[in-house]
Amino acid sequence: MHRRILVPGVLASATLLLAIPASAASPSPGAPGIGDPYYPAYGNGGYDVTHYDLRLKYQPATDELAGTATLLVRAEQDLSRFNLDFLLDVSEVRVNGVKASFSTSGEHELRIAPKNALPKGADFTVVVRYRGVPSQQKAYGFTSWHRTPDGGVAANEPEAAWWWFPSNDHPLDKATYDVSVQVPDGTQAISNGTLQSTSSRAGWTRYNWRSDKPQATYLATLAVGRFDVTTGTTESGIPVLNAYSKDLGEHAGAARASLERTGEVADWLAGYFGPYPYNALGGYVPNTDTGYALETQTRPFYSPRQFAGGSNVSVVVHELAHQWYGDLVSVAGWKDIWINEGFARYAQWLWSEHEGEGTAQELADHVYASHPADDPFWKVKPGDPGPENQFHGAVYDRGALALQALRNEVGDEDFFALLKGWPAKYAGGNATVADFRRYAEELSGKPLAALFDTWLYQPSKPSQAAARSASL
Ligand code: ARG
Ligand code: ZN
Repeated sequence: MHRRILVPGVLASATLLLAIPASAASPSPGAPGIGDPYYPAYGNGGYDVTHYDLRLKYQPATDELAGTATLLVRAEQDLSRFNLDFLLDVSEVRVNGVKASFSTSGEHELRIAPKNALPKGADFTVVVRYRGVPSQQKAYGFTSWHRTPDGGVAANEPEAAWWWFPSNDHPLDKATYDVSVQVPDGTQAISNGTLQSTSSRAGWTRYNWRSDKPQATYLATLAVGRFDVTTGTTESGIPVLNAYSKDLGEHAGAARASLERTGEVADWLAGYFGPYPYNALGGYVPNTDTGYALETQTRPFYSPRQFAGGSNVSVVVHELAHQWYGDLVSVAGWKDIWINEGFARYAQWLWSEHEGEGTAQELADHVYASHPADDPFWKVKPGDPGPENQFHGAVYDRGALALQALRNEVGDEDFFALLKGWPAKYAGGNATVADFRRYAEELSGKPLAALFDTWLYQPSKPSQAAARSASL
């Protein structure tokens, strides 16, 4: 590919254009953000991480985390330097084995200047040695590291990685992971994927976890604490590993009664979304009072609060639905959050129908009726909610209403073909709301611009007529 370089001011009457090969261009810095309009500083430009190898040690008594991250990376441009997103204290960085200079800037930028520039297309290795107390680190005034009486947990969206490993922190750059964490005997380290092995020595136990399918950075999780672990296998043959804090108190029964249905729910969802995409499954409930759950890949994070009112299989359905809608197919930008939350909420409506607790149409009618036209709920546009409303209830409930409207427009056969076809079409990659509309139009042969506009992009309550035609 040739790049045209504009050299201004050389000739008075004309502009001189030089065409020179890109490979001859001088190396330049990778951008400090990947280009997400909601979060311009998140992620970085100029390279793609293919694998994270995290070898860590964590002391629950003091919340000290220390270790080494080895990143396998490919240069996407001629790179003079590049950034990672990170908050803990870095003592050394090596690029291809050679010490690199580094500095920090902004809220979470680790700037790395390798000794030698990295040519476009080259595979290179970055080793970052670090330590810190994650609960003491804040960015933009908050922390996503949840300290517990017996350890800590990294789980949040969209920000989670900064507190425990250096990364290219955006769903556009997915990678595989090996996460190895040494903790005091009697304590467990829980992460995504498969527990490859454990070993004990001199009072410390090491847990080695592997995620061998592409995983977005915010879907990587670490929890250290005292857990009870249960294991099993789904009817379809997927190994299940659940972990419950030993200190869930009165919530313990409801938490177990919910998560132990993980295999049943995953197999049921596979009937709608296609085969479960990973070779590991489960969930974990640490002793935290966090308000949300999170679809951390293969092994969602649940807060005990979800089980305060009794068992809650619906939240399990929601987080497992994300394994297809969010994890297997990830947002291309955070404005596309509807392709995660709208579908995960709709899966809960299908589960309600399955359990005889109300049909999807009944729940859609209920949501429509329970928000009057002047409710600020209708101001939120699920197709582009803005970063401040990324997790507003409207993204979920109005988002699911949009799917009910689509279902009524295209009919059950096409609607359920869409639900199953989408995860296969974009498996392992990223997609936008616009991609989903195009796919739905292709599959159904119907123009859907007006329907999508009404339900996802207008800051007002769709008319009774729109809602009624949606329930024909
Ligand atoms: N994706 C998560 C869920 O729907 C929501 C995470 C919300 N995060 C937050 N910081 N409020 O289960
Ligand atoms: Zn969700």
